[in-house]
Amino acid sequence: MQTIFSLHSFTIFLIILCFISCATFSPKHEKVQTKVEKPSCVDPNYVYCPNRTAIPSFGESDQIDIYYLTAPLLKHMLNNTLSHVNLYHSAIGFHHLASDKTYVIEYAVNNGFINLLEPMIYLNASGQKEILHCDYATLCFSHQPIFPGPETYYTNATKVAEATGTEFNTLLEWSKKYNLTHQAYRLFLVLKQWPNDKETPFFDSVDCMDFTNSFVDACIESGIHIVTEKVRRDYSLLFTLKPELVDISNPVNYNEIVKFYEELDIRGSDTWQILKKIVKMLYNFKFMRDMKGNYYRLTPIMPFVGNHYEMIDTHMSN
Ligand SMILES: *[C@@H]1O[C@H](CO)[C@@H](O)[C@H](O)[C@H]1NC(C)=O
Ligand SMILES: *[C@@H]1O[C@H](CO)[C@@H](O)[C@H](O)[C@H]1NC(C)=O
Ligand SMILES: *[C@@H]1O[C@H](CO)[C@@H](O)[C@H](O)[C@H]1NC(C)=O
Ligand SMILES: *[C@@H]1O[C@H](CO)[C@@H](O)[C@H](O)[C@H]1NC(C)=O
Ligand SMILES: *[C@@H]1O[C@H](CO)[C@@H](O)[C@H](O)[C@H]1NC(C)=O
Repeated sequence: MQTIFSLHSFTIFLIILCFISCATFSPKHEKVQTKVEKPSCVDPNYVYCPNRTAIPSFGESDQIDIYYLTAPLLKHMLNNTLSHVNLYHSAIGFHHLASDKTYVIEYAVNNGFINLLEPMIYLNASGQKEILHCDYATLCFSHQPIFPGPETYYTNATKVAEATGTEFNTLLEWSKKYNLTHQAYRLFLVLKQWPNDKETPFFDSVDCMDFTNSFVDACIESGIHIVTEKVRRDYSLLFTLKPELVDISNPVNYNEIVKFYEELDIRGSDTWQILKKIVKMLYNFKFMRDMKGNYYRLTPIMPFVGNHYEMIDTHMSN
């Protein structure tokens, strides 16, 4: 059992994030201005699902080994920096023994990290400010190496199960449903107290690890042969008193939400502003939108944000 890395790890995370944001945004963009037409969610600096491939069909009795993959979060930008504060990306790997081919399925944002973090504000045809969220996320199936090595993105591949082709197809059906029911990424598990409210949070997170852990659960539930005792998972936590539903038909409330997002917009800001804004956002998270598009007012409480990492029992079969 690991400790909660709250203020400390997040502060490091913020500083790093700041540098990425600066590198990505500062030189190319002028000062923030409200856009006058509906902007595009596409981030030209982000490639969704590189090495994407069609899902292959395997023989019914073929063996497909299933791996739990992890890599330091944002490894493509920061190498292993964030592993020191236990922040990881995770995915599921498949190894088809007969062809020796490997595949990855992962839950990924379609429009990059900055767009996930912050919506865009623009003026619509009647001259009013509208909020555009670009937090769309889908399952990406790709062909890539999974065993740690110089060519491989993932740094840890733990074998969790051995499936047959038939069982693999069952998992694909499960994944298709997951893909349809989890179309927006949510970074935080929002609750009052950790771990007391772990099972009854105000809002669930919907992130890459939620997917990989649900996938392992799906393997266990389908009776697939499990070969590992534990898998790891981390939680990004946001602490608040009970969120209150906001009536956005009241312009005072609506404008307050718009202002909250405008003040946070780091696109086009300089380094120091970006850092200040991200710190402000994480430690004073005033509004949150649920999956139905309703907005809630939060009352952040100590320790505001946190990251918790633990090992989960798989109840290994024999
Ligand atoms: C990334 O970190 C690993 C382990 O510390 C190191 O061996 C490697 O050289 C680093 N890669 C880059 C591009 O800095
Ligand atoms: C512009 O935005 C306002 C506020 O969300 C909305 O009430 C209005 O219908 C929108 N107008 C158009 C033309 O989309
Ligand atoms: C998930 O759904 C998107 C469309 O919403 C589709 O493009 C993608 O291929 C699906 N992924 C999987 C693994 O089924
Ligand atoms: C795509 O596949 C090639 C060849 O297997 C590999 O070298 C490369 O690292 C892969 N790219 C990603 C992003 O996984
Ligand atoms: C990979 O992760 C597992 C837990 O999922 C851990 O037991 C193992 O030590 C890790 N291996 C490496 C090389 O980090």
